Amino acid sequence: MSDIRKVKRNILLNPGPATTTDTVKYAQIVPDICPREKEFGEIMRFVSSELTSLVADSEHYTTVLFGGSGTAAVESILSSVMTDGVIVIINNGAYGKRMCEIAEAYGLDWVEYISPVDQPIQLDQLQLFIQKQPRPVSYLAVVHNETTTGLLNDIEKIGSICKENNLTMMVDAMSSFAAIPIQMSKMNISYLAASSNKNLQGMAGVSFVVAKKEELEKERTTKPMNYYLNLYAQYKHFKETGQTRFTPPVQTLYALQQAIIEVKEEGIKERYERYSQCWDTLIAGIKKLGLHHLVPAEHHSKIITAIVEPACEAYNFDSMHDYLYKNGITIYPGKLANLNSFRVANIGDLTKADIELFLTFLEKYLQRIGFHSAD
Ligand SMILES: Cc1ncc(COP(=O)(O)O)c(C=O)c1O
Repeated sequence: MSDIRKVKRNILLNPGPATTTDTVKYAQIVPDICPREKEFGEIMRFVSSELTSLVADSEHYTTVLFGGSGTAAVESILSSVMTDGVIVIINNGAYGKRMCEIAEAYGLDWVEYISPVDQPIQLDQLQLFIQKQPRPVSYLAVVHNETTTGLLNDIEKIGSICKENNLTMMVDAMSSFAAIPIQMSKMNISYLAASSNKNLQGMAGVSFVVAKKEELEKERTTKPMNYYLNLYAQYKHFKETGQTRFTPPVQTLYALQQAIIEVKEEGIKERYERYSQCWDTLIAGIKKLGLHHLVPAEHHSKIITAIVEPACEAYNFDSMHDYLYKNGITIYPGKLANLNSFRVANIGDLTKADIELFLTFLEKYLQRIGFHSAD
């Protein structure tokens, strides 16, 4: 790296795209190449097989790549997979709600299981809900780490419910993949959606589905209701040609190749330990400043936190954001309709020192607006 220019480092505390290493940034600077070349096909095969191996065994599972943001992968699963039977969609945050909106847009046969945004899913009630449906239920979709709040859904236990009720399980693992360990087979997950730019610490632009091959093969005869996002068509084409059906995001894939090398070097468990250290620092720090987070710690991922906004007349999210932004730190607004919150994610190429710096500036901002904790 010595012969290349260092890029200004911003501390991104938004829930992705995350802060990346310079090696990932520079991996995009490569000679121009036509993505139809065999050489580029090998990059995509590497990316696909390594992504699979982070959560499953490559003999029974595979990864289908799309150019697009994370929602493309979620939409691809929902719009490609269903043949008959109802899908139960768990909604306990904005991303669960988004799956309901996708289901509605495609005219799927769906029912919503609403659960509180700040409390764990009551599994016995979910089981009862599935069993009491008047029509046969065949599928269930759930978000792993609800990025709205940081509520971590117990996908292993939900997977057991799916197994018991013979349901095909789909998981939006956008903000957990590559940090919170996932084992698709053990957890009974058939389809999992994620993207390149969160815990993988790559660039935005690659959306992917890790899928059980046996389930994918069942889609062979399904009449498509989508085109670009058709999961089986993309899987088949890639298997046969080593190419995506449409132009892939070339440079993003080079960066993703490097990001995968780096996650393997660090280890998923170790990456989550690093994130956890950042999270523990964040939680202790906000508490000291008199702020609190929404979800109880025992149900919280150590990835993203919804913090209740300070009760202070002079407080304004935009002014806080702008003050931090001026100092190289980006935070994110809340996404809850009934509660004013802002969000801080501690993912990406960050350390505890970055969180400490954020806390120092946050303290200065709170002093400037005259906030005094009620605690
Ligand atoms: C759980 C979850 N699902 C889906 C998405 C959508 O991803 P994108 O904005 O890349 O489409 C996000 C993004 O934050 C997410 O956190």
